[in-house]
Amino acid sequence: MLSRSQKEMFLNQKSIVIWLTGLSGSGKTTISENLSTALFEKGFLTQSLDGDQIRNGLNNNLGFSEEDRTENIRRIAEISKLFINSGIICINSFISPTEKIRMLAKEIIGEKDYFEIYLDAPLEVCEKRDVKGLYKAAREGKIKNFTGIGSEYEKPLKSNLIIKTAELSIEKSIEKCLNQIIPLINL
Ligand code: ADX
Repeated sequence: MLSRSQKEMFLNQKSIVIWLTGLSGSGKTTISENLSTALFEKGFLTQSLDGDQIRNGLNNNLGFSEEDRTENIRRIAEISKLFINSGIICINSFISPTEKIRMLAKEIIGEKDYFEIYLDAPLEVCEKRDVKGLYKAAREGKIKNFTGIGSEYEKPLKSNLIIKTAELSIEKSIEKCLNQIIPLINL
């Protein structure tokens, strides 16, 4: 059987999971897309997994109770492990609102393969952006347990990197990410 390191050598990269956590509207998908392109241009192969995409398919039987969010993250973490075992860098964009949920992901993936980035944007800014109109719906009581309104987002305490997306440009944010990530994925 081919080993992970043989596959990493084939792809000329070390595989890790880059885990983006933050409120809805904090910029997870934007950072993921830009980071994935920037890494591709430098010769690295990534796979992005994203809340909206995964919840439309694989996890379409899950809601937003604490139990369902935990199961959502557990499945994502298991899938990420498959990717890194194939030598592919996995970029995950999930709110992952509690320390417990993030620790579960880290435990499944393994600490040395888990790089957490907290996209730290104030709730007011995310709510003002309201790209999907979900904050408005949550304020009107149409979504009961929306993260940041009816359901808590616990600020991460142990992130490997914090990006203040309300203060930095996309380019600056990506530059900060690359500075930390490149040394980890260079073979
Ligand atoms: S997580 O909490 O389980 O990590 P995940 O990142 O998969 O969440 O999904 C979040 C996305 O689901 C949001 O970007 C939003 O589009 C949608 N969504 C629908 N209902 C909710 C809700 N109650 N809380 C948060 N996000 C929700």
